[in-house]
Amino acid sequence: MAQNLLVLGLQWGDEGKGKVIDALSSGFDIIVRFQGGANAGHTVHVGQEKFVLHLLPSGILRPGKLCVIGNGVVADPECLLEEIEALRGRSIQVSPDNLAVSDRAHVVMPYHKLLDGLQEAALGKGRIGTTRRGIGPCYADQAARLGLRFAELVQPERLERRLRALIEMKNREVTLLYGAEPLDADKVCAQYREYGERLRPYVRDTVALLSEAVRRGRSILLEGAQGTLLDVNFGTYPYVTSSNVTAGGAAVGSGIPPTRIDRVLGVVKAYCTRVGDGPFPTEQDNETGRLLRERGHEYGATTGRPRRCGWLDAVALRHAVAINGVTSIALMLTDVLSALKTIKACTAYELDGRRVADFPADAEVLARVRPVYEEFPGWQSDISPVRLIDDLPRAARDYVAAVERIAGAPVQMVSVGPERDQIARRRADA
Ligand code: GDP
Ligand code: IMO
Ligand code: MG
Repeated sequence: MAQNLLVLGLQWGDEGKGKVIDALSSGFDIIVRFQGGANAGHTVHVGQEKFVLHLLPSGILRPGKLCVIGNGVVADPECLLEEIEALRGRSIQVSPDNLAVSDRAHVVMPYHKLLDGLQEAALGKGRIGTTRRGIGPCYADQAARLGLRFAELVQPERLERRLRALIEMKNREVTLLYGAEPLDADKVCAQYREYGERLRPYVRDTVALLSEAVRRGRSILLEGAQGTLLDVNFGTYPYVTSSNVTAGGAAVGSGIPPTRIDRVLGVVKAYCTRVGDGPFPTEQDNETGRLLRERGHEYGATTGRPRRCGWLDAVALRHAVAINGVTSIALMLTDVLSALKTIKACTAYELDGRRVADFPADAEVLARVRPVYEEFPGWQSDISPVRLIDDLPRAARDYVAAVERIAGAPVQMVSVGPERDQIARRRADA
């Protein structure tokens, strides 16, 4: 029977999930996104070309693979159509033959994006630092049972009826609560009717489709977005995204039963980054942080914001490995550390002079912990041509071994550059 694999981020996103999915997707039949929306930015380098995917699964670059936008995703139809057109413009085939959008997925509306910005402005200093893609307001509407799903988007009369009622409600919120300009219902309805018509060929019952695929033994790769520390339950709440990013969310957001998700590959950057606000104990707001940002090109793939950079955080990593039941790790951007004389990793937290064993639930507590570091010698040589983990310089192998020890999971691949083939593997897998 085919083995299904879940790939997800174990930090604050941007761990290199896009590259890992691209590298692995050739070995699977179906690639599924199960949560998040256009807040994601997954970068894939193929030869001289660079692709940044927001809503489409990264498997779309592999001909002959079926890509699914699952029921747990909140999709902005405008972004989705733009992404499809942009790829077609670059000779990548995107059609209902290789893309299915769940009829249960929720539609991001202009009022979601507007409210995302208005809420952030109202929070002032306490803002989350969202991508302003309407993600939080859209998931809030799903839970409040005020959402509109793709099944409705593609039925013009139903869409019109629901949308007019929703816009009236949302306009009251926009004008009375925030004193902002209301949306033009006629304009939005006309626009979304057009989106519905264009997207109709893609919209399907993906739960039934995936169920049948599982039954027939087709192999499925699940592509996570964001990272565990941004999970709405297990992350640094309230500085999180609004979806279940973690392994449990993969079943909820796809309809694939948890018992049929066979392996979980956790994607980990060899250091740590965060974009947006919220606590980050190992942040290096100094020369080291700047060096990591420049060497790793750490600027948001979606918003272009400079990413905050720091050392690997093993306390947070252990939390992520446990929650997700990680069976192996992909250690990414390892080449970025090649310039450093010494490398640090945080192996414990101290709070008011006492050791903290578990990753704190409270963001204010996390903001006060003091990281305790272990120091490792750097390798200070170019590792980008290395393709076997055994062939890495001694210091790099020791760092990989240290990550395995502190995370409690084996490292299956070490990424040594942004290119598709720049991956060092275990001899048995190579
Ligand atoms: P994602 O959101 O997890 O898919 O990650 P992003 O695409 O937002 O950010 C990862 C960045 O690192 C992208 O610019 C990738 O091209 C780049 N990248 C991935 N793996 C490596 C690597 O091993 N080395 C280097 N130098 N860059 C990498
Ligand atoms: P990928 O899939 C990094 C962050 C935002 C903000 C918080 C909430 O590329 O790893 P949201 O717009 O989701 O309501 O913002 O989450 N965030 C990400 N950070 N990578 C991402 O996606 C992110 N998606 C959201 O910066 O702090
Ligand atoms: Mg990203």
